[in-house]
Amino acid sequence: SARAQEAASRFAFTPIAAQTDATVHVPEGYSWQPLVKWGDPLFSGVDPLSQETGISLEASDKVFGENTDGMELFVVGNRQLIAVNHEYVNTKVNLPHRADGMPANADEVRILQNMQGVTVMEVAEGPDGWAVVIDSPYNRRIHHNTPMRISGPAAGHDLMKTEADPEGVLALGTLNNCGSGKTPWGTYLTCEENFNGYFGSTDASFERPEGFARYGIGLEGRYRYEQFDPRFDISMNPNEPNRHGWVVEIDPADPGSTPVKRTALGRFKHENAACALARDGRVVVYMGDDERGEFMYKFVSSGIYVPGGDTSGLLDDGQLYVARFNDDGTGEWVALTPEATGMSAEEILIFSRTAGSRVNATTMDRPEWVAVNPVAVEGYCCLTNNTRRGVRANAGGDWTPASGPNPRAENGYGQIVRWYPEADDHAASGFTWDLYVMAGNPAVHSDAYAGSENINEGNMFNSPDGMMFDSTGLVWIQTDGDDSNEGDFAGQGNNQMLAGDPATGRIERFLTGPSGSEVTGLTWSADRRTMFVGIQHPDAPFPDGDGALPRSTVVAVKRDDNALVG
Ligand code: FEO
Ligand code: CA
Ligand code: CA
Ligand code: CA
Repeated sequence: SARAQEAASRFAFTPIAAQTDATVHVPEGYSWQPLVKWGDPLFSGVDPLSQETGISLEASDKVFGENTDGMELFVVGNRQLIAVNHEYVNTKVNLPHRADGMPANADEVRILQNMQGVTVMEVAEGPDGWAVVIDSPYNRRIHHNTPMRISGPAAGHDLMKTEADPEGVLALGTLNNCGSGKTPWGTYLTCEENFNGYFGSTDASFERPEGFARYGIGLEGRYRYEQFDPRFDISMNPNEPNRHGWVVEIDPADPGSTPVKRTALGRFKHENAACALARDGRVVVYMGDDERGEFMYKFVSSGIYVPGGDTSGLLDDGQLYVARFNDDGTGEWVALTPEATGMSAEEILIFSRTAGSRVNATTMDRPEWVAVNPVAVEGYCCLTNNTRRGVRANAGGDWTPASGPNPRAENGYGQIVRWYPEADDHAASGFTWDLYVMAGNPAVHSDAYAGSENINEGNMFNSPDGMMFDSTGLVWIQTDGDDSNEGDFAGQGNNQMLAGDPATGRIERFLTGPSGSEVTGLTWSADRRTMFVGIQHPDAPFPDGDGALPRSTVVAVKRDDNALVG
């Protein structure tokens, strides 16, 4: 029918089959090539990556970092800049000479610290495709020791003070940079997710302060930072973890600028930060807290965004809300106020999870990326999975019953919830919601685990995670799930990226990643003829082939006829 054809025409590609090999696949008529891989220099004269010993200390803050994640493209004058996150490290790959894959000294810890954080890089398209512009004045590495201004209501609070920063206003480093966001005024938001994993204690009998357990801050760090860098030793610096777990604003157009930790947006395991404007011009930032049984949040600024006006304080002053979903398809954003929570305004921000529990926020199946439709007033959040329904969230957390948008008891597949703000206003407290898709496997199951009606054997996937709208209103979904291709996941293949049509629900597979990898991070060139897609933690020697170290890589995807790609 004409209607079916119209629906089909939203997808300018022939969907591809699931794949299980060690490379990237895109539809016929499209091609991909690597743009940049971890260890690639951003400046001239930098030691190259060694397959035997990795990156030198000297080079480690002058190269593209490890584990590419959220990214956004910015047009500055006639230049195109990409700001991109480096979430964590794969120590066996980054320190290939260490049999146990762990740093053995302070220099190796520093290498790992430098390989994470954020890269800002200029990119340009030439006759051989896209490349980083080496030595661009905009190229910049931000890492675990970069000075950051602490801003907003929690700045200067006693819990934010350390011996090195007695005022509680200047932190070092941004940790576990996961998803991203872009403000209406053209700055980058990088989101600190599993910051807890970097902290440990050299004193095994150290009693953790109140609030640490809910965030999973323990006595043993994942990379031994605490053994070589006292800042990460909680027995010596118990307030240091409070200075992480925030959204950080970076101005890519000003390479000398100090990044700013925006405390008004709350402290939790931030996945990403999706910006929208309310009808009256206030700034709305939607955010997920990626942990089983944690919550979805939104921030609404007090001030109004005026293009060209002063935007420096907009993310410092406003109200933080947490989502409550009702089983009848309605919901509300509950304001986290001192009256509602019994906590001080600063404690609400530093311990946002506790504040959410106090107002009975809805526990979710791990809220990953939030995306806002640019052509309709609606938001989407990937609820990636939850395989431990009957267990409480982290110590001090809530029970996680099947309810509302988290309907399945044993949820290995995940779902995407969508909400429609009341009166078409992102600042409204009321909303209605539905599920855009429940992932599943119709080849294995015939009940709720087959997935929703828009899932079939040709487009199935599990664990939606990254999500981004293109300017035409298609939603691009990236997965970080079980790629065993067996059992419950038989036929789903490697992690992948699919495109969805919000109006029809239809979803089609566009790209598959190499085995072991997750597909995460997506942005477009200024002319929208190139998509940049992130490939994180491949296990095979992608993309360099046999014998080489696996390299997390940003790939550029184009149509062979150079037409628009979304
Ligand atoms: Fe860093 Fe929840 O993904
Ligand atoms: Ca993610
Ligand atoms: Ca994930
Ligand atoms: Ca990841």
